[in-house]
Amino acid sequence: MASTYDVLLARLQVAFDTLEVGADPVLRTSDRGDYQANGVMALAKRVGRAPREVADEIVGRADLEGVASVEVAGPGFLNLTLNPKLLNDQLVALLDDPRLGVASAPAPSTVIIDYSAPNVAKEMHVGHLRSTVIGDALARMYRFAGHRVIARNHVGDWGTPFGMLIEHLLDLGEDEAAANLSIGDLDSFYRAARVKFDADDTFKDRSRARVVALQSGDPETRRLWRILVDQSIAYFDRVYGHLDVTLTPEDVVGESYYNHMLEEVVRDLDRRGLLVESDGALCVFPPGFTNRDGEPLPLIIQKRDEGFGYAASDLAAIRDRVSALHADELLYVVGTPQAQHLEMVFAVARLAGWLPDRVRCEHVTFGNVLGPDRKMFKTRGGETVKLVALLDEAIERADLSLLRRGSELKAKQRVHLAMQIARAAIKYADLSTERQHDYVFDLDRMIAFEGDTGPYLQYAHARLRSIFRRLGEPWSAGSVSFSLGAGEERHLALGLLAFPEGFEMSFAALQPHRLCVYLFDLAQRFTAFYDACPVLSSVGALRDERLALCDLTARTLSLGLSVLGIDAPEQM
Ligand code: ARG
Repeated sequence: MASTYDVLLARLQVAFDTLEVGADPVLRTSDRGDYQANGVMALAKRVGRAPREVADEIVGRADLEGVASVEVAGPGFLNLTLNPKLLNDQLVALLDDPRLGVASAPAPSTVIIDYSAPNVAKEMHVGHLRSTVIGDALARMYRFAGHRVIARNHVGDWGTPFGMLIEHLLDLGEDEAAANLSIGDLDSFYRAARVKFDADDTFKDRSRARVVALQSGDPETRRLWRILVDQSIAYFDRVYGHLDVTLTPEDVVGESYYNHMLEEVVRDLDRRGLLVESDGALCVFPPGFTNRDGEPLPLIIQKRDEGFGYAASDLAAIRDRVSALHADELLYVVGTPQAQHLEMVFAVARLAGWLPDRVRCEHVTFGNVLGPDRKMFKTRGGETVKLVALLDEAIERADLSLLRRGSELKAKQRVHLAMQIARAAIKYADLSTERQHDYVFDLDRMIAFEGDTGPYLQYAHARLRSIFRRLGEPWSAGSVSFSLGAGEERHLALGLLAFPEGFEMSFAALQPHRLCVYLFDLAQRFTAFYDACPVLSSVGALRDERLALCDLTARTLSLGLSVLGIDAPEQM
């Protein structure tokens, strides 16, 4: 079905085109009329005419009869009020559309989303939360929009620490080490290796020799390294499972994967005359990047000791993603502190011709997770907060609040539900914050069933489903028609019809919080409707109409949440 927005836009566009081809009507949902077109003022300016006059002309030319009535307001805003027939037709079409009005991309693109990226032999902590949650929401949004998503989990699986980690593994014995790692206690393993490295010179020497062996491809060393990597990937996979994140072990393509491409990166940069030797290191100085003293900034490709820098694998990854994977879009859901690194990498890749203009490449930045003191979120003891601990605590709280609410579910089902609520609380709090902003991690607020929270939306959905359970018989929309006699019904209906814009605006801006805003608003429209309009106690056609509004609301909440990576349980 064509969304209501698209129906109106198409009609307005024809009228705008008569004055200037392609002029944007700037159509928005509005709280005054049902929709508002704000494009007249800019158009009037460009054609050098009075805005009111242009507005009147557009209203005269637009074929909106039977669709909407139009009022020209202020300096030239067009307020559109939908007519009852259009509302009815669109709602009826919505009932039959599993995508609830959202079109699927006619020409799918291949988008590569680089997200999560924890480090091998280290536990995932709160610092990985936002990249993982936002990245996964974007991946789901792209898939829903009809695109082909390739997730890339660019884990840190290479570098000097692996010398000491492998030596520590040998000291413990492979089986013992694997057993320690398999229970997910990666940090203790790492710390123990570090302590020995700092205290014991022979261990330090062994570690250094081991790094050399690893880099030169010694098979036995590679095998030992693989144990660390595999155990870590298995652990990451468990965390993703807990969080219901769609990343799989196949998406793990870590820094080491690009090793064999690094020489070629250097050769190619050299061939193009971009490589400069500076302090013994091989660098590129992309124009436009300077330090505080205004001196050109180098992107280090190969260090003085011949080791390759972090930038080299990122450059190799771009080449691989564009030429081998045929990416149309590259997204990097990586913390803001890496902004300069990524901007420089992108600039160098463009200079080198590896990143053609047609490929959109974007750093999707995000703010920090803060503690109650508004500083970086730490445990009371000042340590980083592990993701697993965070989720466990949320599950415990969710379970408690279910008990307190008198849940009659069996323990096993209750724990499952508590898990769904806990994830929703954590993910929604993250996603509903404008991503560039910081937020305070406050479990009490996040897990509340009231307010702008994940559990509130889940609860609104479950409440809707319970209406149908209480009905006691199967219900289908059949030949329902919508007369929308009450203001609250009409308001809810308009909210339902606006799902495509809610999704599209959020998606186009890569801002999941906009979809959250839409869903929260819809839930509030539903509450106002439900307070004013009895559903089960109404009869005949009116009851069917109201049930249909409930059904559409439940489906919209469920679909919207699922696109964000949040479950909508049937019962709570
Ligand atoms: N592993 C890195 C870290 O923990 C993040 C990697 C981000 N992705 C990338 N392509 N550089 O900081």
